[in-house]
Amino acid sequence: MQHPTVQKSRPTSQRLLGGLCIFISLVLSACGGSSSSTSDNSTTPTNPYPGVTAYTSLDLSAPLNYTSPTLLAHYDASVLATNNQTAANVTTDKGATLGRVLFNDVRLSFNNTKSCASCHSQANGFVDQAQFSTGFAGGLTTAHTMRLGNVAFYQGNSMFWDKRATSIEDQATDPIQNATEMGFDATHGGLAALLTKMQTLPYYPELFKWAFGDSTITETRIQNALAQFQRSMVSANSQWDRAYAVVYASNGNTNSPQNFGRSLAGNNIPAADRFTTSQDRGRALFIQGPNNGGKGCAGCHQPPTFALDPNSRSNGLDQGETKIFKSPSLKNVALSGRFMHDGRFSSLEQVLAHYATGIQAGPARDNRLPVGGIGMTAQEQADIVAFLQTLTDTTLNTDSRFGSPFIK
Ligand code: HEC
Ligand code: HEC
Repeated sequence: MQHPTVQKSRPTSQRLLGGLCIFISLVLSACGGSSSSTSDNSTTPTNPYPGVTAYTSLDLSAPLNYTSPTLLAHYDASVLATNNQTAANVTTDKGATLGRVLFNDVRLSFNNTKSCASCHSQANGFVDQAQFSTGFAGGLTTAHTMRLGNVAFYQGNSMFWDKRATSIEDQATDPIQNATEMGFDATHGGLAALLTKMQTLPYYPELFKWAFGDSTITETRIQNALAQFQRSMVSANSQWDRAYAVVYASNGNTNSPQNFGRSLAGNNIPAADRFTTSQDRGRALFIQGPNNGGKGCAGCHQPPTFALDPNSRSNGLDQGETKIFKSPSLKNVALSGRFMHDGRFSSLEQVLAHYATGIQAGPARDNRLPVGGIGMTAQEQADIVAFLQTLTDTTLNTDSRFGSPFIK
């Protein structure tokens, strides 16, 4: 990526004048200097963002587009309306850009070793494939890291597996102050110590002024910028999305249950995205409810975002479970390495075996999942695994808007 050079930002008139001077100086040895570089330096406008330029590849004169990316058409008004953004924190390109810096900055950890991206790795759908993730001092988290794609579309006003944070904003400074994850806990000065540290990093006062109008660094601004960045992580270009987009466009441009139920294995789907017989059987089993020959997965993991139904209860992992857990969107689930809040399963086959025969009784269990399991043949389980693999979105995982902007 290009970062702004002093050359580039010089007005054309100055460049022409400079050129003229060089020309004249060659002929007449005039223009008050023997080389053009002397006169260049005296006319160079000051770079308003020397810290940003020294540490990152960002071009603040042309922020990247987070607010109106081109999405496939089934991310229509009805879907975008389910974004959990509130009027108190509306995403802007500048705010999300600051969020990108914060998300990828190891200096937000006590000993400069861990950023959000260390655990939420973009290449894996913003997850760590290990069962538990290693924090700033080598300690392990007690839960599996969660994927972040489509986090904007969870309607439950709660974050973390056990829903203990009330919003993406509320969640955002939790890992920073966590004694295992990034280390600015009470014994290390808490968030106040981080705010002081950020004031001394040359790029943050510049970036906060650019994004928020003045250079004050506050917890709320950090939370807002991180939330804006994470809400921009929309996953709309998996194989399933591209195939379903054809069905959507040729059947009334609407996200109806009928459209979700249509085959994606037909000749109307371009060959590169056309579902195999197994993927398409898995699709039908996942989408359709038990009364229509399906397994009802989509009742909780809802298309087209595959965010969880906010009314979903737990899925019966442990006998006597009292906690209601959520799941991140199933977009990119095949890249997660481990599955469920404690990462207990290491393959999607094990996940399907759980739903088939492993559902345990307990007060938090959702009635849609009967104790003892929903029953599935080995073939049905394999078909649903094949379908889940069509939810992998390499576009999101390689989109440069979400990568690290740091050059040092
Ligand atoms: C050391 C690894 C680690 C680091 C660093 C880390 N996270 Fe996480 N993240 C996790 C784990 C583990 C969970 C699940 C924790 C739980 O539910 O108890 C999680 C959950 C989340 C969630 C909840 C998603 C959902 O759907 O509910 C969000 C959002 C999130 N992290 C954002 C961040 C941000 C922003 C940062 C940086 C400020 C960050 N994380 C740093 C490991 C990490
Ligand atoms: C009643 C709602 C409900 C139904 C129905 C349901 N799930 Fe889930 N699912 C959940 C919840 C809740 C979790 C998170 C559980 C946890 O970690 O404690 C989850 C987790 C998952 C995960 C792991 C996600 C991750 O990030 O680790 C996968 C994969 C999954 N479900 C697939 C399916 C499939 C396939 C079906 C249909 C056979 C299905 N689900 C049916 C509620 C449901």
